[in-house]
Amino acid sequence: MLHPAYVFDAYGTLFDVHAAVRRHADAIGPQGQALSELWRAKQLEYSWVRTLMGAYQDFWQLTEQALDFALARFPQVAPAVRKRLLDAYWSLDCYPEVPSVLKALKAEGVKIAILSNGSPEMLASAARSAAIEPLLDAIFSVDEVRRFKTDPSVYEMVTNSWRMYPEKISFQSSNRWDVAGASRYGFHAVWINRSGQPDEYRDHAPKAVLPNLTQLLTAN
Ligand code: LAC
Repeated sequence: MLHPAYVFDAYGTLFDVHAAVRRHADAIGPQGQALSELWRAKQLEYSWVRTLMGAYQDFWQLTEQALDFALARFPQVAPAVRKRLLDAYWSLDCYPEVPSVLKALKAEGVKIAILSNGSPEMLASAARSAAIEPLLDAIFSVDEVRRFKTDPSVYEMVTNSWRMYPEKISFQSSNRWDVAGASRYGFHAVWINRSGQPDEYRDHAPKAVLPNLTQLLTAN
């Protein structure tokens, strides 16, 4: 049975965060994958630390600071790639099944949104470049509450705005920690385990685990 609303995490779930580095793989050299993973890990660490400290800066600033750390950590990578990597973030590739899944959900008449740590500008730009903007009813950015996931106030933006009970909302994320936060909040949380990661946060389990979004319409 379908849920009345489907809310998606952005980075890693709809948009491929490692696309930026892959696009410039030749200029970056053999440390591309390690650079990309460290960039992402630091970006997320900064989001958690800043929320705990109560010292919000928007996700774009954290993305820049995280890349600067990763470039300093891998000095063999030419600093000239910095601008190209940051620019690529504004037009990340979406995963191949994303447009067709969102179109199929739209045809069923359910509500569709993004709920993300990204700044409103980053999210609007990524949705536009992936041509999925017309399929979305809303883009919820943490910028409104100035706290990052997994703070409950982030997930609460959706239930407050749409006046819906959390369990009516199917929330999809490929980030297991985000699934834990969403599940704790009460969403019907679905883990999109794209890279076959082991399970964690077992006391906040997903309602379903899927390898990508294609089975979403039949799995719920
Ligand atoms: C987001 C991060 C968690 O889009 O990927 O919120």
